[in-house]
Amino acid sequence: MMEHSKAKVKLLGKYLEKYFNIICNTAHIQQIHVYDLFCGEGVYKDGSEGSPIVILNQINNINPIIQNKLGNTIKIHCTFNDNDPKKVEKLQATIKQRNLHNLHYGDIFFETKDYKEQCEIITQKLSKQKKFEKTFIFIDPYGYKHIKINQIKSFMVHGNAEVLLWLPTQFMYRFSNNGTPEALKDFISEIFQDFNKWKSTNSVWEFIKQLKEGFKRNLDGVYVDTFTIQKDQNTVFCLFFFTTHIRGFEEMLETKWEIDTEQGRGWSYIQSQRGESLFPEEKTNSLEESLTKYLEGTPRSNVEIYEFTLREGFLPKHTNEVFSNWQSNNRLEVIPQGAEKVRKGAFYIAYKYYKDKNKKVIFQMR
Ligand SMILES: C[S@@+](CC[C@H](N)C(=O)[O-])C[C@H]1O[C@@H](n2cnc3c(N)ncnc32)[C@H](O)[C@@H]1O
Repeated sequence: MMEHSKAKVKLLGKYLEKYFNIICNTAHIQQIHVYDLFCGEGVYKDGSEGSPIVILNQINNINPIIQNKLGNTIKIHCTFNDNDPKKVEKLQATIKQRNLHNLHYGDIFFETKDYKEQCEIITQKLSKQKKFEKTFIFIDPYGYKHIKINQIKSFMVHGNAEVLLWLPTQFMYRFSNNGTPEALKDFISEIFQDFNKWKSTNSVWEFIKQLKEGFKRNLDGVYVDTFTIQKDQNTVFCLFFFTTHIRGFEEMLETKWEIDTEQGRGWSYIQSQRGESLFPEEKTNSLEESLTKYLEGTPRSNVEIYEFTLREGFLPKHTNEVFSNWQSNNRLEVIPQGAEKVRKGAFYIAYKYYKDKNKKVIFQMR
């Protein structure tokens, strides 16, 4: 198994661990449908485990019986699809041999359809999905020529679906500079409507950022962010995640920041204040810059700032740090909206206020 594939399945495992955890803490969900659309053969010659095995391991790691908050048992059904029947056969045998299919968790379906056909089937199913169902879709192609933003859009419009998409950004950005291949041109043109709107770059971080912005612009109401793993200066592996649920999104961002911290790329606001960021290329502190722009001339409520922070890919605790600093330096005014007094350092940037549209304070730059 290639090194980048190992990184990818590690992220998939972490994501699912969190995902199942969130769902088990949701009151009404009773069924989860997991789709691995390019599933591969399961176990590689060197013994490393591919996405279907990682998915089943995560399912088997949850308590023997998974219950939602109301005490209903949750079933998790998996569909493993690959257009190479030999790979699917091998996967089926491995799952049997390792006894990975625990029947009370749900069903496993093995399919050998083309990705495009599967996309149509899933979109159909999603249009009929009930409130107690959730769908998770993992898309791991060899390249990117199969991937269309419209497919992702059609998954997301019905709500209750999460998508994790692997793109080989570590190869894609190098081409984007000189002599862009037709397939990459098509891919970028679909996202940006016009290829000329795309700025070619020799920074992989910039490439990923542009793609993310492109996805966001195309997918109204969808929260988009990335998981990245950096191997060396020029090699960055990246998974894109898509969801319509802001709370789920916040939890995913927490996982992302945990992974980034493990990778030594965590939040480093203090460093940036002193102007000595360790990773100038990636700019972990772009939050301060974007908050400044967002607040310039326009006062914003705690509810707006919560959503803005997440959409920027950061957590409320990060904005709290920036605001504390601004407050101490007299750059930020925090204006209470009720009769209650607001103590210094209290900013109310949290889901519970967002959910109730509870505008406790308004922030204004001085
Ligand atoms: C990158 S590999 C998947 C690896 C796998 N997710 C893992 O973690 O081991 C891509 C897989 O997609 C399959 N594939 C290629 N074209 C496909 C298509 N049009 N539809 C479905 N599967 C396809 C290949 O057979 C291959 O196994």
